[in-house]
Amino acid sequence: MTVLLLVVYFMLVFWCQILECSPAVGVVGGVVNMNMTISDRNINTNRNLVGPNNFILFEFYVGMANPAYTDTDVTYTGNISEGYVSFTLLNLTMQRVGIYQYIIYKGTSGNVIAGEQYLIMAESPDTPVISGLSQQAVAGGEYKLNCSAMSRSEKPGHNLTMFSEWKRNGVNIMADVKYGVSGTILTVRNLSKFDNTAGLTCIAFEDQRRKSPESMVFPLNVYYGPDNTQISPSGQLTVDEGRLLNITCSGECNPPCSSYRWYKDSQLTLLGSSQTLTITSVSRNSAGVYFCAVNNTYIAKVGTTQTTVRVNYSPTVDIESRNGSHNDTSLMIKCSAYGIPEQYTYRLIHKSLSSGIEIREVSYEFISTGVIIHRFINPTYMDTGIYTCFVSNGVLDYTDGSLDKSIYSTVWVKGLPSITSRETSFYAEVGHSGRLIIEVYNSLLDLVVTWYKHNGGALEKLMNSDKYNIIIASGMVDVNFYSVPIHEPGFIATLEIRNITEEDFSLYQVHVQNYVGEMYPVLLQLRVIKKLIPWPYLEVTRE
Ligand SMILES: *[C@@H]1O[C@H](CO)[C@@H](O)[C@H](O)[C@H]1NC(C)=O
Ligand SMILES: *[C@@H]1O[C@H](CO)[C@@H](O)[C@H](O)[C@H]1NC(C)=O
Ligand SMILES: *[C@@H]1O[C@H](CO)[C@@H](O)[C@H](O)[C@H]1NC(C)=O
Ligand SMILES: *[C@@H]1O[C@H](CO)[C@@H](O)[C@H](O)[C@H]1NC(C)=O
Ligand SMILES: *[C@@H]1O[C@H](CO)[C@@H](O)[C@H](O)[C@H]1NC(C)=O
Ligand SMILES: *[C@@H]1O[C@H](CO)[C@@H](O)[C@H](O)[C@H]1NC(C)=O
Ligand SMILES: *[C@@H]1O[C@H](CO)[C@@H](O)[C@H](O)[C@H]1NC(C)=O
Ligand SMILES: *[C@@H]1O[C@H](CO)[C@@H](O)[C@H](O)[C@H]1NC(C)=O
Ligand SMILES: *[C@@H]1O[C@H](CO)[C@@H](O)[C@H](O)[C@H]1NC(C)=O
Ligand SMILES: *[C@@H]1O[C@H](CO)[C@@H](O)[C@H](O)[C@H]1NC(C)=O
Ligand SMILES: *[C@@H]1O[C@H](CO)[C@@H](O)[C@H](O)[C@H]1NC(C)=O
Repeated sequence: MTVLLLVVYFMLVFWCQILECSPAVGVVGGVVNMNMTISDRNINTNRNLVGPNNFILFEFYVGMANPAYTDTDVTYTGNISEGYVSFTLLNLTMQRVGIYQYIIYKGTSGNVIAGEQYLIMAESPDTPVISGLSQQAVAGGEYKLNCSAMSRSEKPGHNLTMFSEWKRNGVNIMADVKYGVSGTILTVRNLSKFDNTAGLTCIAFEDQRRKSPESMVFPLNVYYGPDNTQISPSGQLTVDEGRLLNITCSGECNPPCSSYRWYKDSQLTLLGSSQTLTITSVSRNSAGVYFCAVNNTYIAKVGTTQTTVRVNYSPTVDIESRNGSHNDTSLMIKCSAYGIPEQYTYRLIHKSLSSGIEIREVSYEFISTGVIIHRFINPTYMDTGIYTCFVSNGVLDYTDGSLDKSIYSTVWVKGLPSITSRETSFYAEVGHSGRLIIEVYNSLLDLVVTWYKHNGGALEKLMNSDKYNIIIASGMVDVNFYSVPIHEPGFIATLEIRNITEEDFSLYQVHVQNYVGEMYPVLLQLRVIKKLIPWPYLEVTRE
């Protein structure tokens, strides 16, 4: 008998294994359907459904329940003739956990367990903790995370599998090329810096109906970079010569980028190895293309970038001119400038040679980049002077802070001599000496002055003698250059007439001449003075 019972028992275990008599899983307050296959469907006696702690839940005969033993939270739905017993537990409590057995009573001692099923009460796991399973996360690689949580389902020893759901910044993660989800493991592939802010959390569960609270965000720390290497200020830089230039290289690295190296153009010389390259006083040679290389200590990666630096500098100016002579149509002044930017404004100022008085501003024409010329149209002696070319490209000269650069050149234009004095009447007294004086502007010492006396209809050329003393002396003369009165070195030509007699009161003619040509003759007159005024006031006496 015992042997038979044992055989039946083992058969049942065998059947249960064959028919996958897997445990039922319920949750508090929920409903579970217990469905157990019965080993012998022909035994026609009373049967009990026995719950945990041998509590009789249900007693029934074939096909019908016995109300006397009915547990209000259990509903029988089975059909023994079909080989199974199915019943439903309502309003589950934790106490329902355990093994449920379908027992067939045969007399008082021959009870047979005809079917059984384990009820597991699933509970939400504790708040999970995410742990990293991989070595240091590095951009491009992958990283595995485990969502580990303590089970709270009853009873311990249940074989419920822990699962997890993952969220990225609160949004459920679906398995794709980026994320692999398997059990409690999340694999993040093709890591990037963005994964550091992905806000990965998980929820653990053994049963869909009982999910754990959400874990804390896992502090994923992906090493990356250098990314986005750049130089600031960005874009092409323009800096004035002499100024300070700071260019800063930056890259995005985790951990922070390490070495910085600066190079210029195609030179291999290391210009600097700090994040900021400082040139305290930029020179025009500082213009060029600057390269920056940023290293990451942990990843064998170098980020590089470049920027172009343009250096503005105030122009160097040059002037070319030569001396000319009257009507020299090829006479010109050329002023050239070289600076950056190559946009210049010019002024060409003509000043007097000796006093420096500004005579005029001279027009010019553009010849090529940075070059202007002034052409003299029929030049005359009035064009003699100092020509100063002022050039600016808007950039201050860093050595003296000036905006205009200037250079000057002196031009002499040999022209006809010019008699600049207005006096034509001179006075003298018989027996004394008298003087006829003219002022002549002539830029060279090639002046020839010839005096004549009107003798009736004839002209008598006067020569140095006891009677006549012909003097040419240097002296300042008043002259108008382009209507500007200036005081320039010139010549004072004097005809001294000694021991004046009545015959000397006459008209005199003076001719001035240089190698360019002869000036028109000027008539002067020597007259008798009414009042005796002693020498030397004679010459300045006026009528
Ligand atoms: C119980 O199990 C039997 C046999 O496996 C099956 O035919 C029946 O549909 C099940 N009933 C329920 C309610 O699961
Ligand atoms: C139980 O199943 C048998 C065989 O399928 C059927 O004949 C019988 O009517 C069923 N009984 C009930 C109560 O459903
Ligand atoms: C479920 O069970 C609890 C405690 O056992 C009881 O208070 C409650 O009324 C039950 N609910 C239902 C719908 O039967
Ligand atoms: C994940 O965590 C669980 C604990 O919750 C642990 O049992 C399991 O071994 C872990 N998985 C790995 C791959 O470490
Ligand atoms: C869990 O699995 C083990 C091994 O398969 C088994 O021995 C044990 O009975 C199972 N526990 C439950 C509650 O099913
Ligand atoms: C890796 O991610 C980057 C963006 O972070 C993407 O551009 C690249 O195509 C991805 N590579 C692979 C192999 O998926
Ligand atoms: C330039 O950079 C140096 C070094 O970083 C710093 O000391 C200095 O203040 C910077 N100057 C300017 C004008 O930004
Ligand atoms: C920067 O990285 C490159 C490549 O990894 C390496 O060859 C070089 O030596 C590094 N330089 C510095 C200064 O760390
Ligand atoms: C122009 O003439 C002046 C005066 O004769 C002279 O000193 C100067 O050297 C001359 N300049 C040139 C470029 O010949
Ligand atoms: C200068 O040119 C003008 C007109 O072009 C002419 O009348 C004059 O004679 C010229 N003078 C000399 C010195 O060549
Ligand atoms: C001045 O002229 C008169 C007459 O011509 C002459 O007599 C006299 O000697 C002269 N005097 C001198 C100082 O030459």
